[in-house]
Amino acid sequence: MKQFIKSPATVGAIAPSSRALAARMVDWIDFGAVDVVVEYGPGTGVFTAEILRRLKPDATYLGFEVNSTMARHLRARFPRITVYEDCAANVRGRLQEHEHGAVDVIISGLPWAVFPEDIQDRILSESVEALADGGVFATFAYLQGLLLPAGMRFRKKLTSLFSTVETSRVTWLNLPPAIVYRCKK
Ligand SMILES: C[S@@+](CC[C@H](N)C(=O)[O-])C[C@H]1O[C@@H](n2cnc3c(N)ncnc32)[C@H](O)[C@@H]1O
Repeated sequence: MKQFIKSPATVGAIAPSSRALAARMVDWIDFGAVDVVVEYGPGTGVFTAEILRRLKPDATYLGFEVNSTMARHLRARFPRITVYEDCAANVRGRLQEHEHGAVDVIISGLPWAVFPEDIQDRILSESVEALADGGVFATFAYLQGLLLPAGMRFRKKLTSLFSTVETSRVTWLNLPPAIVYRCKK
């Protein structure tokens, strides 16, 4: 909440996601086959905890978090992870810099609705490029925005970039209720 008041334009949500939504973000992914996972906007680490619960001990977790307070908290809470205090749009640059190969999974907690379209486009196209063939991308959207023009445009971007996009059932135990887009490259 404090971080939302300080930076509403990047935090984009008044409360962290629920554990129910976090589980739905990851429960469709076969983590046994995952060597590198990237998370955008981990914030307080609700999705991070669910990812780490499932991730193989020798697999790599890379987070992209622009908020330095949150990045610091995440590193302290989860010592095994790497958190870049950087924009998700720089994912490929960071992967190259640190000699990581293609990524198996990208989990996004980004507040898409507060981003201008060119930033949305850049992050999405960089993500597709960063993913291995058959790699997967998960992101959520709040129920109330789905039928608004911006929400419909965002879904269209996903379907034009990924080979399949599935929509989960609604997670009612979240403030506000949300769905997950499950995308495969
Ligand atoms: C809506 S919060 C989500 C936090 C957490 N994943 C959750 O669901 O509760 C969005 C997070 O994305 C971060 N963020 C915003 N813009 C970003 C960007 N361009 N790149 C990386 N992180 C960003 C914010 O600092 C914030 O922590």
